[in-house]
Amino acid sequence: MALSDFLAELDALAADAQSAFSIAADADALEAARVEFLGAKAGRLKTLQKGMGQVDKADKPTAGKRFNEVKKLVEAAFADAQQRATSGREDASEALDLTLPGRPVRVGRLHPITQTIGAMKDIMGRLGFTAVEGPEIEDDWHNFEALNIPLSHPARDPLDNFYLGEAASAAAPLLLRSQTSTVQIRVMENTPPPVRIISLGRVYRPDTADATHYPMFHQIEGLLIDRGVTMADLKSVLRLFCQSYFGGDDDQADVEEVHVRFRPSFFPFTEPSVEVDMNWHGGWMEMGGAGMVDPQVLRAVGYDPEEVTGFAFGLGVERICMRQHGITDIRDLYQNDVRFLSQF
Ligand code: DAH
Repeated sequence: MALSDFLAELDALAADAQSAFSIAADADALEAARVEFLGAKAGRLKTLQKGMGQVDKADKPTAGKRFNEVKKLVEAAFADAQQRATSGREDASEALDLTLPGRPVRVGRLHPITQTIGAMKDIMGRLGFTAVEGPEIEDDWHNFEALNIPLSHPARDPLDNFYLGEAASAAAPLLLRSQTSTVQIRVMENTPPPVRIISLGRVYRPDTADATHYPMFHQIEGLLIDRGVTMADLKSVLRLFCQSYFGGDDDQADVEEVHVRFRPSFFPFTEPSVEVDMNWHGGWMEMGGAGMVDPQVLRAVGYDPEEVTGFAFGLGVERICMRQHGITDIRDLYQNDVRFLSQF
């Protein structure tokens, strides 16, 4: 056999083997290709190696050297293909192992204050009160003036309010509302009596945060205006509200353990004014203020105090929520610690 023929056959074998290994799509195809080219008995390399005997003696070193090169090349191509096949299998198993346990899905839940607000709207809704909203940035008229809080009143002190910008000294200052009583004015200005609303929302005061104070907190404001409304209506509504919130609807025994009491007090926008306390499972708790809407306020919104009277109240939402859940530090509500919040 001529050397050139032998070398040509070697080259053809190398090319065939490389393409066969590279296109082998699975383990069976690869094994078939291995047997065809590298098979120990009848593989094409083996067959060609036997043919080397017919090459001229003088050409044998050249033929042998080239044969070894091609053999290494074919073996390397096979090893590559084999590696590709197994690593591909590993990738696939990492992507989807149906035997692994599932990952738990963490479901969020409503913030305790949001839950409290929802429950309050529910209860007051059943008593016929519509929930309305007002802006958190307020003007002097709605936060003070119309509520019968005169210019000289200490409640306007810049140290007790978040005035915006240079507004504290301006003629018509803007501020973050310090009470939800603002919404009473906004509603009465736009609606003729009778009125029966609640408003729940954030209020702001520059208090240093401690266990019972926070510069932002929530109030529930209530307002009822009609002919012949009295203090007795106020007390009935507040007692029903507290009994429903703390007592639960059907549990009459529990309901009878919820008590409400009034203590004489003063607010510029009510006359008479009271402090509202509630007792549930021992110990009186201060809930906020209330009273009969001052005739001065009714006149400010264009109502006739000879025609209609009304009551108003403003209670702290955090206090009620904390009392319900036994939370002792208001700051816990606003740290956004999921370990705390997920308990409610
Ligand atoms: N606005 C008062 C406060 O923030 C609470 C309050 C007292 C609201 C008496 C009222 C009320 O509607 O009648 O301290």
